Amino acid sequence: MTTPLSNPQATHAPAGFLRAGDLVDLDPNLPTGVVLENGERVCVVRRGDTVWAVHDVCPHRGFALGGGDVVGEHEGAPIVECPWHGAHFSCATGAVLSGPCTDGIPTFPVQVINGVVYIGARQAAPDSENA
Ligand code: FES
Repeated sequence: MTTPLSNPQATHAPAGFLRAGDLVDLDPNLPTGVVLENGERVCVVRRGDTVWAVHDVCPHRGFALGGGDVVGEHEGAPIVECPWHGAHFSCATGAVLSGPCTDGIPTFPVQVINGVVYIGARQAAPDSENA
C-alpha cells in the first residue's frame, strides 16, 4: 500500500513510532501490507478505529500476509489468514493458530492519533506453535 501523507491534522509521530498512513485509507478487515520508512514490512488490520500490526512476512515461505483474509477473532483481535497456504495468525499475540506454518510472527504496537496510524518497534514473535 502506498499511503499519501496528506492528513492536515496529523501530529508528529510519538517517540519510537513511525507513520504508516491514514486510518481512512485502510479497508476494514482487509490485511494490508505497508513498508515503513525504516524498511520494516508490516501487515496492518483495521476494525473500526482500532488497528493491529504484525510482521508482513509469513515464516512458512516468507511471503506477504497483506492481501490475505481476516477469518475470525483470537483474544479480541483479528485472525489473519496467509493468502498463500492458509496459515492462521493471531493479531493479538502473533501466535500461529493453524499451519502449515509452525512459527509465530512478530507484532507491533499501534497508536492512532488524529486519524493517523503510527507503528512502534517490532516485538518478539511467540516461539512455539499455538503459543
Ligand atoms: S507462505 Fe504463509 S502459509 Fe505458506
